[in-house]
Amino acid sequence: MKAKYDFSEGERGKFYDAKAVFNILNSHEEDIGQKMRLNNKIAIVTGAGRGIGKAVALRFAEEGAKVVIDDLNDANGAATVSAITDAGGEAQFVNADVADTTDVKRLIAKTVDAYGTIDILVNNAICSTADVLNNNWEANLAVALQGTSHCSNAVVPVMQKGGGGSIVNIASVNGLIGLQAIHAYSAAKGGVIALTRSMAVAHGKDNIRINCICPGTIQTEVWEPMIERNPQILDEITPWYPLGRIGQPIDIANTALFLASDEASFATGAIFVIDGGLTAGNHQFPI
Ligand SMILES: NC(=O)c1ccc[n+]([C@@H]2O[C@H](COP(=O)([O-])OP(=O)(O)OC[C@H]3O[C@@H](n4cnc5c(N)ncnc54)[C@H](O)[C@@H]3O)[C@@H](O)[C@H]2O)c1
Repeated sequence: MKAKYDFSEGERGKFYDAKAVFNILNSHEEDIGQKMRLNNKIAIVTGAGRGIGKAVALRFAEEGAKVVIDDLNDANGAATVSAITDAGGEAQFVNADVADTTDVKRLIAKTVDAYGTIDILVNNAICSTADVLNNNWEANLAVALQGTSHCSNAVVPVMQKGGGGSIVNIASVNGLIGLQAIHAYSAAKGGVIALTRSMAVAHGKDNIRINCICPGTIQTEVWEPMIERNPQILDEITPWYPLGRIGQPIDIANTALFLASDEASFATGAIFVIDGGLTAGNHQFPI
């Protein structure tokens, strides 16, 4: 059967129809658009200047989202925006402290001013590694737990107005099991898990899905101070992982993408443990 449009050399001159070609290209672009999982969705990712947040922002942009990058570090925030815009995506940077309710209001207002609505929020920001390692309770609770609450509560009215949305909280395996003596961090992350469930129950009626990811060890800059103290640390951690490797930011970005997209339309209040099997148990009895 002859193809509807034949673009072989001989046929081109005879049948060339600029409008038809344009329509084909256009419909192809529409197809691509439809296949993009977050096409034209508006997303905020906190702490997106580096690490997991940056990977999430890039992955969302790749799938068609317009992404607002929040971070305290201007240079890193601008670098994430450039990485997205250089690849043809759309992103803006806002320097807002998630622990500060005035800053959070400004972050939400700027996003709504720019794009009219907000479909997705990823609560990813975390205080410094020093604050985590030194059990700085104030910093861990203010950024990880209260920051998640401040951003979520500020975005809910916008999502209600827009008919729904998806909030993805980044907790940790430390919120599920005892690991190192980083009690303040672990307690804050346990709080994020409880907050996820509590808010999911409250906002199911608003079609706002609120889920949580608990990553295992992910190779990001947070590990640098620990690598300085012990250059072998990541190699020493690896055998604890049944999959035989630690995670990469893209492992979490792909899970966040799923939760943010309509593919997860029946998931809310759920805790997604993405940890290479760490919390499944790592004891091999010699039987
Ligand atoms: N890397 C891991 O091994 C690992 C494991 C489990 C969970 N997590 C969680 O994943 C998330 C990201 O981790 P990461 O390793 O990419 O961390 P990271 O430190 O590399 O990135 C965190 C970002 O948050 C920003 N930030 C800090 N305080 C902020 C504030 N008050 N407001 C806005 N931004 C702020 C920082 O500037 C930084 O860019 C965190 O919630 C972390 O607890 C990480």
